[in-house]
Amino acid sequence: MDKFYVTTPIYYVNDVPHIGHAYTTVAADILARFNRLSGKAVFFLTGTDEHGQKVQKAAEGRGLTPKEHADQMVENFKRLWKELNISNDAFIRTTDEQHKRVVQEVLMKLYEKGEIVKRPYRGWYCTPDERFWTDKEIVDGKCPDCGRPVEELEEDNYFFLMSKYQDALIEYIEKHPEYILPETRRNEVMGFLKNNDLGDLCISRPKKRLSWGVPLPFDEDYVTYVWFDALVNYYSATRYLAPGAQEQINWWPADHHIVGKDILTTHAVYWSTMLMALEMPLPHNIFAHGWWTVEGRKMSKSLGNVVDPFEVIKTYGADAFRYFLFREVTFGLDGDFSVSAIVGRINSDLANDLGNLLSRTITMARKYFNSVVPEGASVEEELKELAEAIYKKMAKHLSVLAFQKALDEVWSLVSYINKYIDTNQPWALAKDPSKKDRLGTVLYSCLEGLRFIALYLYPFMPEASEKMLKQLGIEEPISHGQYSTLRWGGLKPGTALKKPKPLFPRIELKDKKEEKKKVEEDKKDNLISINDFAKVELRVGRVIHAERVEGSNKLLKIKVDIGEERQIVAGIGKVYSPEELVGKQIVVVTNLKPAKLMGVESQGMLLAAGDENNLSIVTLEKEIPVGTRVK
Ligand code: MSP
Repeated sequence: MDKFYVTTPIYYVNDVPHIGHAYTTVAADILARFNRLSGKAVFFLTGTDEHGQKVQKAAEGRGLTPKEHADQMVENFKRLWKELNISNDAFIRTTDEQHKRVVQEVLMKLYEKGEIVKRPYRGWYCTPDERFWTDKEIVDGKCPDCGRPVEELEEDNYFFLMSKYQDALIEYIEKHPEYILPETRRNEVMGFLKNNDLGDLCISRPKKRLSWGVPLPFDEDYVTYVWFDALVNYYSATRYLAPGAQEQINWWPADHHIVGKDILTTHAVYWSTMLMALEMPLPHNIFAHGWWTVEGRKMSKSLGNVVDPFEVIKTYGADAFRYFLFREVTFGLDGDFSVSAIVGRINSDLANDLGNLLSRTITMARKYFNSVVPEGASVEEELKELAEAIYKKMAKHLSVLAFQKALDEVWSLVSYINKYIDTNQPWALAKDPSKKDRLGTVLYSCLEGLRFIALYLYPFMPEASEKMLKQLGIEEPISHGQYSTLRWGGLKPGTALKKPKPLFPRIELKDKKEEKKKVEEDKKDNLISINDFAKVELRVGRVIHAERVEGSNKLLKIKVDIGEERQIVAGIGKVYSPEELVGKQIVVVTNLKPAKLMGVESQGMLLAAGDENNLSIVTLEKEIPVGTRVK
């Protein structure tokens, strides 16, 4: 049997799951489900990355051991995968004993081969962040992350001799155009490899600074660098978690590693060269997807706009969420998540195109044929061909993770049948008893077409697919390899049709009339509702830089950190000097339309009381993280 092995990144346990995690995992789930129905033996792996500095620190902060902390956090991911109907075959945790053993085995092998050596390591150390930066990375002698001073440190560490493989990697990528996708990302990796000298990779951390990691098997004073440990998961899982792993079925190499664009280098460069040094085959493909913004803005904890997937599922359902993620943007590009976009998709594609098609077809068949699937007097060849041909097209698109195109193919069938109904007007045929055969053909064709649609949609929307089949009277569960036996005519005439239930109810975005009436009432009283107030987005910011606007004694140009950097022009220059503002926490209106003041753009407004000669800016009584909403 053909094998298919797909992976997601293993997620850091420190984070609670967000839309980005859901995105990659659903992508892998779609591929896994499609390949199972195509008859392949599938191994779909996801899991968590649990070692390293950040986890150790977070655990300390909570008064827990790192393992206790991880044990709790991991449950969030497991619960989300359940709610999203993720069909992973295994869940790896880097704290699994078997995984750690494989990491050590790999390290030992590389060490014995002379691929890992001990060397002094020099760099700039940021003590509060507990990490090294290179000469290039530091900014004016300060940590690029927190802005605090760094000190030059030297210590012995172990290095994987990655630089040796630079040419081999370039050659490999050139020979295997499908290795890194999409093409733009491959070009970026190639550009990087061709224009820079690849360094060697520091793969150890002295235990005195970090103890939470896999101990190096050849030096007990060190633990393994978290990325080295994490990447090995893709291989270690095949040794103890994959179906038939005990019988030594060889799952390696993976077909697809799906990752976000931010972690492509670690996969395309570190992992590939690690495998080369181990003399192991490289995965067939590494696919780097884009990032989601939210309502047009970068998603960040400090902005408080992180999309909680549990909430999305609660509001719209898992299927609609899954569909939206893959219909809305080409996999590989960035996308924007907004309420209007998801509601738009649900109403037009799912409620209208698909849901209505199902309910009107079943309603007519029940009405005209006594609630059973009618006999089709003849076969509609064009429809049959279209329906049967979609499988191959989907397979081709999904082999390069073109999810949107695969959905387009299914929708070509949805649209075809919708048009077919409008052209053939079954309600008119029903009025003429001599047209009963034709009516049977038309409705049989629609119902059979809907069976194909349900099966093709299964990888994307498993629950809706099963509901569709049930309404069509099909009780057998969807089975492994089902696509290989999918032929026109599979729906048996005489099958009892269920009463149709809406698959995806339309979502009304608030009643406009009601809203208007309330607004009028509030106006009369000169009151605003809490919703009106919430329209003004106020956030905590910190002034990082301020200077006078040339030619004005009143205006200051201020750079504020609100989780992202904003430039604000404020008329407070008669009372405040630029120097005294730097470092202050202030309150900023962050959703004001940008405006120009004396030719300088202002992207927001700070709150202050008084007039230009006697005023006070609004500050906070105690330290609050930047980006926090003021309400
Ligand atoms: N632990 C590493 C991966 C190790 S794999 C051997 C890691 N974990 S992570 O939890 O930080 O990253 C999870 C994934 O989420 C990454 O693929 C990243 O690209 C993705 N995303 C994080 N924010 C995202 C969006 N806003 N949109 C889409 N994906 C995003 O990195």
